[in-house]
Amino acid sequence: MKVIRKVDELREYSIEQRSKGKTVGFVPTMGFLHEGHVSLITRASVECDIVITSLFVNPTQFAPHEDFDTYPRDFEHDYNLAKNADCDVLFAPAREEMYPEGATTSLSVGDLAYVFEGKYRPHFFDGVVTVVAKLFSAALPTKAFFGQKDYQQTLVVKSLSKDMLMGVEIVVCPIVRESNGLAMSSRNKYLTDEEKGKAKILFQSLVATKEFIESGERNRKKINAFMHDFLRKLDILKIDYALAADANNLSEPTEFEEGGDIVLLLGTILGKTRLIDNMVVRIPVSKYNEDERFQVGLK
Ligand code: PAJ
Repeated sequence: MKVIRKVDELREYSIEQRSKGKTVGFVPTMGFLHEGHVSLITRASVECDIVITSLFVNPTQFAPHEDFDTYPRDFEHDYNLAKNADCDVLFAPAREEMYPEGATTSLSVGDLAYVFEGKYRPHFFDGVVTVVAKLFSAALPTKAFFGQKDYQQTLVVKSLSKDMLMGVEIVVCPIVRESNGLAMSSRNKYLTDEEKGKAKILFQSLVATKEFIESGERNRKKINAFMHDFLRKLDILKIDYALAADANNLSEPTEFEEGGDIVLLLGTILGKTRLIDNMVVRIPVSKYNEDERFQVGLK
């Protein structure tokens, strides 16, 4: 596996590969890799001829009070994991390489940047799209792989590629979890063992709410209240949001439509650690309608 630190060198490499007819898969990360990241690299290596993984802790997606300085970093660990997952190039640029001196241009997402996670981290999504656009300009990928773990980020990045006419196909990969259901995250390193045990309540609340919905509930406020009540069992957990929304555009109708996909979104703080999670649930089609469909021969 090659390590590249310069944007020009990466771009040249990618152009050369694509001129040979090869497809280039790209996995952007902030490093401190775990099995969740590895699953994206593995998927990219199945779907593409060449895989580029980036390691870059992006300063513009952190607010001054957030954990940019303490965000975990371990190049050797990341190198070994990426290499074992069949990555071809590890792109690890310095800050000045991604944000050249005097750079003032940035991108803005619009309304989607200020709801759910964006309400608590208003700088976050503009920082993400700005760096992802820069990384796409450097890696020139055919496809880019993102985790469902950061659900709102996947929507924002899909809009980036579409709105800015980038032509990069965005592939969303499933959430990889610890055996107790806790979604893997580089920030789990901040949790004590006791907190790790308690953090399983996030996944449990999602599963319980999924069952609640599958038993026939479509009213958004009732679904939200159910999720909140479940999470409140762990009184040390601070709930920023625990909300259901349309999975395609995060709209919040009074009642969700039968057969539609909704996403349950959680943003919480346990001790000093911000934990997010989500689950996509399909609203079942009611029995009455199924019978009706049967009668008109639709089944
Ligand atoms: P980071 O948090 O390092 O995550 C990199 C990618 O790994 C993201 O697409 C994220 O959704 C995915 N990922 C993280 N945990 C996962 C898990 N448990 N299962 C599956 N996928 C998981 O997300 C970022 O970095 C940054 O915002 C970035 C896009 C790199 C821009 O700076």
